[in-house]
Amino acid sequence: MMTTPAEPYALPAEASVEVSAEEHQFNELIAADSRIEPRDWMPEAYRKTLVRQISQHANSEIIGMQPEANWITRAPSLKRKAILMAKVQDEAGHGLYLYSAAQTLGTSRDEMTDALIAGKARYSSIFNYPSPTWADMGAIGWLVDGAAICNQVPLCRASYGPYGRAMVRICKEESFHQRQGFEILLELMNGTPAQREMAQDAVNRWYWPALQMFGPPDNDSPNSAQSMAWNIKRFSNDELRQRFVGMCVPQAEVLGVTLPDPDLRYNEETKQYDMGEIDWTEFHEVLAGRGPANARRLQRRREAHEEGAWVREAAVAYARKQAVAATAVA
Ligand SMILES: [Fe+2]
Ligand SMILES: [Fe+2]
Repeated sequence: MMTTPAEPYALPAEASVEVSAEEHQFNELIAADSRIEPRDWMPEAYRKTLVRQISQHANSEIIGMQPEANWITRAPSLKRKAILMAKVQDEAGHGLYLYSAAQTLGTSRDEMTDALIAGKARYSSIFNYPSPTWADMGAIGWLVDGAAICNQVPLCRASYGPYGRAMVRICKEESFHQRQGFEILLELMNGTPAQREMAQDAVNRWYWPALQMFGPPDNDSPNSAQSMAWNIKRFSNDELRQRFVGMCVPQAEVLGVTLPDPDLRYNEETKQYDMGEIDWTEFHEVLAGRGPANARRLQRRREAHEEGAWVREAAVAYARKQAVAATAVA
């Protein structure tokens, strides 16, 4: 009598954790530090992480235009106006590259825009602070774009191809942004006592929020390890923050401004700067929508979206007309 063959579907226990061929290929690409492209299979969690990160990044570029656009009409000279306009336009371009990168992951631009104007999507907490003086243009360029550079240079090597490639172009423009901010402050610091005071006041207001741009401390950043394992993130939040402070200290000396941290000092043993306590309560408050300018920023974004409706309609009508013309020729 024949024995019943083993149930064909009952795989041995180890086999059930075996990865699929696609997943194996994904893991191989990551291990080889190669790029994942839109056509490649990827784990859902990887896709979700990227959509969240890239869309938040895009939103930050777009909302980040506001504190500086606030000063375009009041720039102190034609030269400053031209530079500031170019800078704000660059930020619009950064938003567009990044929304396009996020779209390759299957989320539409409309979905991302709707989430932003509905107040459901995040953007960097830094852009919820006001820019009351001209010196803020200097402090934003020097500190905010400076922090952005520290964050973004390693992202040029992010494992997801469209994101990494967008970052390469963005970083080239960010270094110009940082320099123009530095130069605004330098000019003010070489000016009258009132100008020097205005520059110092702006640095006092932007320094701590710039340190918060790197995100919570490593021991309070639960998703970082996974992002590092996927080669999206290359350095931890605290490492990047440390690198930024190391960059700011000598530049502050050249400018003649004081960084508003009485505990900041070089530690000979660690070869790094020890710094004072960051106010994380403030960070979480701003992130939760309760910062000084959150409501104003979102309101302005909503208005701009509504005011731009006719441009979108015209573009759709034009595309339709072109399509009809193309079929007529064919
Ligand atoms: Fe930017
Ligand atoms: Fe920038």
